[in-house]
This record gives sequence, C-alpha cells and structure tokens, in this order.
Amino acid sequence: MMESASVRDVAALAQVSVGTVSNVLNHPEKVSETTVSRVQSAIRELGFIRNDAARQLRAGHSNAIGLVILDVTNPFFTDVARGAQQHAASFGKSVILGSSDEKPDLERSYLDLFEEQRVLGVLLSPVGEVTSRLERLRSRGIPAVLVDRIIPDAVASSVSVDDVAGGRLAVRHLIEQGASRVAFVGGPFGIRQVSDRAAGASTVAQELGVPLEIIATDALSIPEGRRVASELLVREPARRPDAVFAANDLVAIGLLQTFFAAGVAVPRDIAVIGYDDIGFAATAVVPLSSISQPSALIGRTAIDLVLAEAASGDPADRQAIVFQPELVVRDSTA
Ligand code: RIB
Repeated sequence: MMESASVRDVAALAQVSVGTVSNVLNHPEKVSETTVSRVQSAIRELGFIRNDAARQLRAGHSNAIGLVILDVTNPFFTDVARGAQQHAASFGKSVILGSSDEKPDLERSYLDLFEEQRVLGVLLSPVGEVTSRLERLRSRGIPAVLVDRIIPDAVASSVSVDDVAGGRLAVRHLIEQGASRVAFVGGPFGIRQVSDRAAGASTVAQELGVPLEIIATDALSIPEGRRVASELLVREPARRPDAVFAANDLVAIGLLQTFFAAGVAVPRDIAVIGYDDIGFAATAVVPLSSISQPSALIGRTAIDLVLAEAASGDPADRQAIVFQPELVVRDSTA
C-alpha cells in the first residue's frame, strides 16, 4: 500500500519550504495566492491528508515555539537560537528562549511552561534523559525536536553534528602538526557532546600511536580552562602535553589566557584547538583553531522539522539530520 504523502513531499513538489506548507494549511492569509494554489495542487496531486486528530490536539496552540538551550552564555547556543528565531519569524512564528544551564530542574521548569503555554512545538538541547517527557509533550499535540543531540529510537526528530568525527578531526590535526603528547580537556562527561568528542579523540590518537591524556572539567567554561592551564603549568615542562584539544572554544579561550599570562608560547610550547568556532575564536589572544559547527543552520533546520510535524502530526515527518563538522586552522596550532 502506498505510504500517505508527508508535508515534506508536498513541500518538495510545490518547491516551497515545509513552513510555507504549514502556513498554507493553517494560515493561508499569510501566503501569496500563487503559492497557495501551487501548494494546493501539490496536495491534490499527492493525495496528502493531514492528520486531523493530531491537528485537533494542537487546536488553540500558540504561534510560539519553545527553545531550551544548555547555556545562554555560550555563543554557540546563541547562534543556534538566532538561526531558529530568524527562520521562525519568516513563517510568522516566534521563539521563546530558555537556558537550562545544564540543570535538569531548570530544563523541566521550561518544558512545563511551554506545555502550559500550549506552544506549537519545542526545540530542546537536553541535559539528561528526556524520552518520556518528549512522549508526554507529543500526547498533548506538541512535537519536539532535539537540537545538538541525536536520539536513537526516533522518539523525536533531531539535528546534530557528528561530534565523534569532530574529535577525530581535532586530534588528527594536532598530531599532523607534530604533537606527541596530547591532552583532551573537557567535561562533565554526562554531556553527550563531550563524551563523543573525547571518544573521537581517543580513537584517532590510538590509531596514530600517540598517547592521549584525559583531563576532566566541571563545566565547559572559560574559568575551567584557566584552572586546568594553571594545573598544567605547575608540572615540569617535559610532563606537560605539547598540544591540548579543548571540548569547546570557551575552555580553549581560558587555556589561552592563562598560557599567555604565564609567557607560554602557543603553539610552539603548547598547541591549542577548541570546538564550535564561535565568533571570539578568531579574535582570541592567539587566534584559535577550532572545529566549526553550522550553528545557525542547526537552528533553521530544527525549525523546519518542528513545523513539519506540527503541520501534519505525522511521525513519518521525523528525521535525524546529522551535519559534519569542519576544521578551521588558525595561529593556535599552525
Ligand atoms: O554545551 C556544550 C557544547 O555542546 C557546546 O559548546 C557546543 O559545542 C555544543 O555542541
């Protein structure tokens, strides 16, 4: 039996975005007549049937989309939020932003708020285990999309970056630049992005026969980078790593600040690479090499996915989209 067409199929045939199909279905007054007729002919041609039961659940939902990020002080997440907000606005939707600060209780309070506000959908960069909460949201007609995280059992759509590949890229680059004693600095390891980056780093170090030291941090922050750098400087120079892969740019910037203040030459004495390629990386005290993530595209893609499921209520519209990270080389390793 032919599978019923999805919102994505209609969008592809009409050559519009999923958000536009959603507006044609829910707010045609916001769309030009030519586009409305093009979408409607695609709907007829494909025999698209909207899921009315799910739509009724969403009846009376607000025009806002809730977004919970891990850390609003991290420019990576503000770039994701800006990408999501600008894209949502192009479909007449607004974004309500909350920061969990990596605290499960705070994350829960924002999800409660979004449920009470009957938002159109939720984008979430989760702190911990959220599967049952996502299922509860959906039972109330609120689809959710995981941001910067993938969830294996397709309980929700997700948009993420292959952080294992990112970890491999970073450490391979350090070793190709001549490093022979590499350290990974990051934590807590309960955050999937950290453990994946460390896993990639470990496997490529092992493949290339170079020792990798793991130095855990309590958070991915500038102060934690400074603390670890101070501890490394207490060691005899021969016992220090000659290259450091920091789990994100904030930790790397903290390392650079303390090395610079202590007169340690980067990269000659210790090379440093970060992760995210935030705006401050290029302007750091030593321009920082990093592993870039398409942060704004992550935000835009998450909006498309949540609008697709909000429009159709069809689980077939769920996808796990994984972007590939890229190496950006600057003075801190070159
Ligand atoms: O929040 C932890 C890290 O995960 C951020 O720096 C960003 O890299 C995200 O992917």
